[in-house]
Amino acid sequence: MLPAAPLETSPTATPDYRPDTAVGQRTMLAPRDAKDRLIVGLDVPDTRTAQTMIDRLGDSVSFYKIGMQLLFAGGLDLIPGLLVDGKRVFLDMKLLDIDNTIANGVHSIDNLDVTFTTIHAYPKAMRAAVAARGDTGPGLLAVTVLTSMDDSDLTEAGYSASAVDMVTARARDATAAGMDGIVCSAVEAARVRAIVGPDMVIVTPGIRPAGAAAGDQKRVVTPGDAIKAGADYLVVARPVVTAVEPAVAARAIVAEIEAAL
Ligand code: C5P
Repeated sequence: MLPAAPLETSPTATPDYRPDTAVGQRTMLAPRDAKDRLIVGLDVPDTRTAQTMIDRLGDSVSFYKIGMQLLFAGGLDLIPGLLVDGKRVFLDMKLLDIDNTIANGVHSIDNLDVTFTTIHAYPKAMRAAVAARGDTGPGLLAVTVLTSMDDSDLTEAGYSASAVDMVTARARDATAAGMDGIVCSAVEAARVRAIVGPDMVIVTPGIRPAGAAAGDQKRVVTPGDAIKAGADYLVVARPVVTAVEPAVAARAIVAEIEAAL
């Protein structure tokens, strides 16, 4: 992400939906307030449904995640409108590729002005992403172990480590690579915080308010407990976007976050 250039001095100045990065991109990765700590995953089938959801959520949500489902259904088109409305965007790419392709992918994502994107926590891939991001690109989050996986899923995939050991090892690798944050379950958040220190961002999916269906998620934690464990941001999709009243569900999660801070 480039610092916003004054329109009057450059014919190629950045569009006016770009956030003001004068304070430095890294500073911008912190939550602006309690509401900002809730990142709603727009896991819906198309942009029309997504826009309806965004409209229904209104000012109850300030941060959205666009992931695989919406990405392949035109989701990138929603980003400028979200930025104009003062929302932040997390583009959940979960990149893993050869170094050259990772670097070029990060350069392309840089032009989208999103706050975060994700890289699988393989050291070479993370180093390539960090080198490509420079000082002003998107915040880079390391995906450690998916929250839908437990120890037996890792064994099946050929890994001998437990989920918690793999998460902590990958958090160390992400820190060494210069990543900006970690994606893990809140089950591991306290251990990860001890490894990465206070400045790295911890983002936790697998969040379920008390009584909500876990679905395919295995390492689940309530919003309040995730905040108490040291998570900076909580990613929540189905408990909000499939709720009868999504804004009510979102506000309840934000209230739980506020109470836990
Ligand atoms: O519906 P639910 O709240 O379980 O959705 C969680 C979201 O977070 C999904 O979009 C999923 O792709 C994403 N995610 C995750 N676990 C990770 C990384 C991302 O569940 N480790």
